[in-house]
Amino acid sequence: MVHLTINDREVSGQDGWTILEVAREHGIDIPTLCQHGAVEPSGACRLCMVEVDDGRRRRMVASCLYPIRAGLKVWTESDRIQNVRRWILQMLVDEHPGSERLQVLAQTYGVKASRFKSSRYEDVCILCGLCVRACEEVAGVGCLSFGNRGVHKEVTTSYHLPSPECIGCGTCLYVCPTGAMEQFFNRVRAVA
Ligand code: SF4
Ligand code: SF4
Ligand code: FES
Repeated sequence: MVHLTINDREVSGQDGWTILEVAREHGIDIPTLCQHGAVEPSGACRLCMVEVDDGRRRRMVASCLYPIRAGLKVWTESDRIQNVRRWILQMLVDEHPGSERLQVLAQTYGVKASRFKSSRYEDVCILCGLCVRACEEVAGVGCLSFGNRGVHKEVTTSYHLPSPECIGCGTCLYVCPTGAMEQFFNRVRAVA
């Protein structure tokens, strides 16, 4: 076992675990969007940031990616972390105010969507990639991918058409943190 502290509390986890895994094991809440235990973490959303002191310096890291080590000190609710979390959520709800799930998460941290209406109001995909990875790693299909670049980047299938490889397992719908996969399937059906 590896011994460390989270919020000045002594905790332990197995070698190879991430900070997020240890925190959850001990009932310490860290918000996440792009993480699911069934797929490899990607570090896409940065909402799970925590502050760590590894004996050399204090810095912020993504807890879903950072492996624990003996003597590590972790803080999940420091002022710095709360500010970063609020800042990320503010950006997400401003950009995707149509997602009820994001709204609820943002409200939990005291963040309100601004009155500014984003050009992507209807689009609630935060491009976290969880659906793409789950289709590949859990369903073993891999018919979802990212298409386009920059502001036009989106989750897609080959030729934007319903994929003949899709087995309709619903894994992507289940893991999507914003409800965007439902929009996606409606859109793909609409062009079929
Ligand atoms: S429903 Fe289709 S697209 Fe979604 S995870 Fe399953 S196989 Fe992939
Ligand atoms: S559709 Fe959902 S799971 Fe897929 S990238 Fe967008 S927000 Fe993430
Ligand atoms: S949950 Fe860790 S970066 Fe998204």
